[in-house]
Amino acid sequence: MFSFRVVTCLSYFVAASLQFAATAAQLRNTTDFNTGWLFHYGDAADAQSKLLPDSSWRSLSVPHDWAIEGPNPPASPFDSKAPSAGYGGYHPSGIAWYRKHFTLSDSGRKVYIEFDGVMQDASVYVNEQLIGMHPYGYTSFRYDISEAVSFGGDNVVAVKTDTSRQPGERFYKGAGIYRDVRIITTNPVHVDQYGLYVNTPLATSSAATVRAQTTVINSGNKTVNVTIRGVLSSPDGTVFTPVAASAQNIAAGSRATFTFEISVTNPKLWDLTTPNLYSLMSTVSADGTPIDDESTTLGIRNLTFSASTGMSLNGKSVKFQGVCLHQDYHGLGMAAPKRAMQRRLTQLKALGVNSIRTSHDPPSPAFLDLTDRMGFLVLNEFFDVWTSHKYSDVGDYATYFNTVAKAPTGTPPVPGSSGPVPWYQVDVTSVVSRDRNHPSIALYSTGNEIHDSIATRTPLLKRMKEIVNALDPGRLVTQALLRPATNGDISGATRTLVDVFGANYREAEVLDGMKTSPARAGLLTEETTGTNQWDAVRANAGLTGLFLWTGVDHLGEVNGKWPTIGAVPGIMDAVGGVKPIGYAWQKVWGAPVTAPPATGSTASKVIVTAEASSVSTDVNDVAYIKASISDVTGKFVASSSSPITFSISGPGTIVAVDSGSQDAESFRGNTRKAYQGVAYALVRATGEGAIIVKASAGGLAEGSVGLGGREGGM
Ligand SMILES: *[C@@H]1O[C@H](CO)[C@@H](O)[C@H](O)[C@H]1NC(C)=O
Ligand SMILES: *[C@@H]1O[C@H](CO)[C@@H](O)[C@H](O)[C@H]1NC(C)=O
Ligand SMILES: *[C@@H]1O[C@H](CO)[C@@H](O)[C@H](O)[C@H]1NC(C)=O
Ligand SMILES: *[C@@H]1O[C@H](CO)[C@@H](O)[C@H](O)[C@H]1NC(C)=O
Repeated sequence: MFSFRVVTCLSYFVAASLQFAATAAQLRNTTDFNTGWLFHYGDAADAQSKLLPDSSWRSLSVPHDWAIEGPNPPASPFDSKAPSAGYGGYHPSGIAWYRKHFTLSDSGRKVYIEFDGVMQDASVYVNEQLIGMHPYGYTSFRYDISEAVSFGGDNVVAVKTDTSRQPGERFYKGAGIYRDVRIITTNPVHVDQYGLYVNTPLATSSAATVRAQTTVINSGNKTVNVTIRGVLSSPDGTVFTPVAASAQNIAAGSRATFTFEISVTNPKLWDLTTPNLYSLMSTVSADGTPIDDESTTLGIRNLTFSASTGMSLNGKSVKFQGVCLHQDYHGLGMAAPKRAMQRRLTQLKALGVNSIRTSHDPPSPAFLDLTDRMGFLVLNEFFDVWTSHKYSDVGDYATYFNTVAKAPTGTPPVPGSSGPVPWYQVDVTSVVSRDRNHPSIALYSTGNEIHDSIATRTPLLKRMKEIVNALDPGRLVTQALLRPATNGDISGATRTLVDVFGANYREAEVLDGMKTSPARAGLLTEETTGTNQWDAVRANAGLTGLFLWTGVDHLGEVNGKWPTIGAVPGIMDAVGGVKPIGYAWQKVWGAPVTAPPATGSTASKVIVTAEASSVSTDVNDVAYIKASISDVTGKFVASSSSPITFSISGPGTIVAVDSGSQDAESFRGNTRKAYQGVAYALVRATGEGAIIVKASAGGLAEGSVGLGGREGGM
């Protein structure tokens, strides 16, 4: 079971298993495809060619962000003349390639490759054949590669990533295959992509109904008689009596949807303090033989929004005690191991944060798995731009937003469309159909401070809302509006299209938007970090809360500020150091109040501590090893910016070095300047056994810490 504890100063979490007791699917084969990639920085001729001599390419695992490490690590990648400019944090951009060789044994099966996110304009080739190009760096996509692969022999997948259009975005977005990849093989008759959808039409403390829809596609060449068997498991692992959906014949090339319902008496409800998760397995049988299965976790909870009483979770009033988060993890860039995400969420929870706005783009499945399990509400935001670029960042998504998507899109069909569709509709379909089973998702946000005119925006918003309603009925939509009074949103159509009236930095306008008929709940989607921002939330029952800008300092958004590469709006710094305003929010939000660690003034030694007692070889695991410049009594010396040099022995490797500093400085190698007396080495195991990390600085006494290396899973 998942467990974590919050301890002041040193140890933010124990090494908790991130693998959970969900009923594992068995008939379909889902294989982790993160390891064994080859990488080439820059463009390369014939990089998709099967016989390309690639032995000189660098071996690595994904998640990987080539912009944060640059062409010659450990040399600093940051450059005052970088085309990304201060928007992106002066990071490198352009083209880079990944290749991976693989073999497949189970001939006759459908083969899919699934990417949770590639930044960006990802062209995927299999055995030299271009399978598809996916522009948006924040949405998942899955390609059918059954026809392109060979069974038994060598196969090569090549992925071109291209961030050449710069400035790429208003903030750091990285580059590369920065999220998980997997290969899925199935019977030709199988559950379609995101085809297992669950909701709870009844969710009270005494009774609940779990309704599951399983969409099955028959990509074989004869009609099959399909039946579905559903098995629900409660949070404690108790298995419910299996249920069935009535049989349907599915013609070759067609889909059919099967629905069943399961009644649960006295359900263990999902809430922020006890985020109970059920799991559901749906097994597909064709002509009586089980051939495919798909599982999902789900939470039973009743989340409502009302103009008069605001937001309520299982009948209790709750406010968004939220922070906005960009998706970079500083020294790790966009390639955040799941463990780093867990660490950040744990730190935020200790400040009283209960909600995250994934500004300004959709999060990864790994992140949403954590918010489900750790008890957070999520405002899942689709876009930062629609058809107009934000500023001079010509590489942002406006280029693709309303242009016709090229097949294959890698996502399920867009509801209500049969012909060509613009990319934004594909992306919204992708996000909503992928994410709708997550109890942590409270609302969708269709965009952030969109610069299009209200006349342009209205039909786009209307269409996005139709797609959300078709795929995830019951989940509501808001938008982080920009100056809604002057931009026509209060008097215009937006007010009736958004279910919850949201805007950035405009409390009075949000209150006005809520009042006009019919009244609706409101949300401060973005606010500065002063604790007085909470007054309006407290004073207005219909105001559902706020999201501070931001939870954590982030890279980019510092145009013209070289050699500064990141902005510092956070209530924590980029590695989780709590700022005074962070401690102030603990009091407002009712979290156990902690005090900043005591400081000393005369540096004498380096104290090294590990936040976890062990770390695994899994690419999604990482241990934060903290080195503090300290005085003789062990108090850290906040004024010190001495370079700290780490060394490692045993079966471990330093993945990155980091600190809260936003000065241009490499995150690779063994040395990083202390920021407020502290620097970190981020360590992963390379095998089984004791790992020792030492840290030294100038003439100070060296410190060290040990942790256990483990093989395999987290
Ligand atoms: C699943 O796929 C992997 C990789 O192709 C293979 O090694 C494994 O044997 C497969 N397992 C099953 C149960 O088919
Ligand atoms: C949620 O609770 C409200 C009353 O608080 C009730 O009207 C509604 O039916 C409930 N929704 C579900 C899905 O049970
Ligand atoms: C589909 O038909 C072809 C011949 O047209 C055959 O070779 C193939 O095995 C069939 N595939 C399946 C999944 O039945
Ligand atoms: C499909 O299978 C079910 C049970 O497996 C059976 O009752 C039904 O008659 C079959 N339908 C057809 C059309 O073959």
